[in-house]
Amino acid sequence: MHFTSPISSLATCGVALCSRSRPYSSKVSTPASYNSPDSTGKRAVGFFGNWDIYARNFTFTDIPAQKLTHISYAFANINSTTGEVFLSDTWADIEKPYPNDKQNRSLKTLLSSTIIDDEECRTTFAKSAVKLMYDLGFDGLDYDYEYQNSSTQATSFVGLLKKTRAEMDTYTNSSAPFLLTADGIAEYLDFWNFMGFDYSGSWNTTEGYFAGHAQNLYASIDSLATPFNTSTAIDYYISNGVSASKINLGNPLYAHAFLNTDGPGSPFIGSGNGSFEDTGGVWNYNQLPLAGSNATVIEIEELGASYSYDSASKTMMSYDTPAIASQKAQCVIDQGLGGAMWWEISMDKTGDESLVGATVETFGQLETSQNRLD
Ligand SMILES: *[C@@H]1O[C@H](CO)[C@@H](O)[C@H](O)[C@H]1NC(C)=O
Ligand SMILES: *[C@@H]1O[C@H](CO)[C@@H](O)[C@H](O)[C@H]1NC(C)=O
Ligand SMILES: *[C@@H]1O[C@H](CO)[C@@H](O)[C@H](O)[C@H]1NC(C)=O
Ligand SMILES: *[C@@H]1O[C@H](CO)[C@@H](O)[C@H](O)[C@H]1NC(C)=O
Ligand SMILES: *[C@@H]1O[C@H](CO)[C@@H](O)[C@H](O)[C@H]1NC(C)=O
Ligand SMILES: *[C@@H]1O[C@H](CO)[C@@H](O)[C@H](O)[C@H]1NC(C)=O
Ligand SMILES: *[C@@H]1O[C@H](CO)[C@@H](O)[C@H](O)[C@H]1NC(C)=O
Ligand SMILES: *[C@@H]1O[C@H](CO)[C@@H](O)[C@H](O)[C@H]1NC(C)=O
Repeated sequence: MHFTSPISSLATCGVALCSRSRPYSSKVSTPASYNSPDSTGKRAVGFFGNWDIYARNFTFTDIPAQKLTHISYAFANINSTTGEVFLSDTWADIEKPYPNDKQNRSLKTLLSSTIIDDEECRTTFAKSAVKLMYDLGFDGLDYDYEYQNSSTQATSFVGLLKKTRAEMDTYTNSSAPFLLTADGIAEYLDFWNFMGFDYSGSWNTTEGYFAGHAQNLYASIDSLATPFNTSTAIDYYISNGVSASKINLGNPLYAHAFLNTDGPGSPFIGSGNGSFEDTGGVWNYNQLPLAGSNATVIEIEELGASYSYDSASKTMMSYDTPAIASQKAQCVIDQGLGGAMWWEISMDKTGDESLVGATVETFGQLETSQNRLD
């Protein structure tokens, strides 16, 4: 694959659908025949942010390409008036020179974007996104939509997917089908990424101040400690007709911090600093444990969750350990899900402590469908 292409976007034609200043999600997809050449291989989808090359000091050549089947490049912008999709940082996206391209026929690259309500905008969006994808040599598009909250939005989204798929189908001169992916709506998608994270965090100050697990598989009897859980939500999607093999379990490569707390299910006050100025309360996994911290790491298999707790500073951090990542990977296998996704790959550790590595090792086999390198 060529890492010299990018895109994905978060915007809307007229309406701001994504209120977050910093996106935490992702997804991906492709025609079933292209996407699932074998029944055992899993997807490993890593998000890469085009801002990673700056303060994060993480570039294309740092991507653990051997452990991934798809890379989603975040994000392209959308012109809010016309719906046109365009590059958000042309220096990072296409101009910055690299010593060599990585090539791997099994590694697919995806372009991400969002939804729009206006019919004309949707048409412009679909045409411009597919053209950009084609011109830059991407294997598909990834739609990041956080979050649909009405049937009107859902209907608009389906309309956009339909247009996008039709537009992709006009590029029939290519050797492999293009991939279309997004959160939540499976009908037109090859696969989608379930955001199994951000279940709790600094924002939850409205109903009391409870520190909670942010990416637990299962619910605790102490519901304050687990306001949400992955298992119930995925069961819900499957029981409503989404095929399990199209669902990738999304995982964070970062921690949510809770200060002045006794731990999960207890009140907290504040979330403190983060890895970067724009990420208060959120720490890269590869920066943990923090220097000077005496935090103990606790793994709770019944919850499929782990966290660290520093009793001196009364700080809790909710994040996955390699053992929990393996447990989640086994859950993906046992439930017949399609694979895993991560937000985002610059935040992982390397070696034995890598969460991507622990997951992929448990999967054993990754899917090997070919990209459009030609
Ligand atoms: C639903 O989404 C729209 C558009 O993003 C937003 O303006 C509105 O506040 C959301 N409503 C709820 C209840 O979250
Ligand atoms: C960026 O990372 C490279 C290795 O990947 C390292 O040699 C270099 O010192 C780092 N630069 C900064 C400013 O941290
Ligand atoms: C290509 O990537 C796959 C994983 O997706 C890996 O197993 C394989 O070794 C890679 N091949 C090369 C030549 O890097
Ligand atoms: C959006 O498109 C309109 C019409 O082509 C153009 O005038 C405007 O500058 C564009 N806005 C952005 C942010 O590119
Ligand atoms: C493939 O089809 C697209 C859309 O019709 C066209 O723009 C492009 O030039 C074609 N490419 C080749 C190599 O024929
Ligand atoms: C805040 O947390 C409580 C309990 O932990 C949960 O019931 C509630 O839904 C959360 N609120 C939000 C907005 O996430
Ligand atoms: C599990 O999570 C779902 C939503 O993800 C929530 O509706 C349900 O109440 C949770 N179950 C328990 C026992 O907390
Ligand atoms: C956050 O960072 C600022 C500036 O570096 C520092 O003064 C402050 O003590 C930090 N806060 C916490 C809770 O660590």
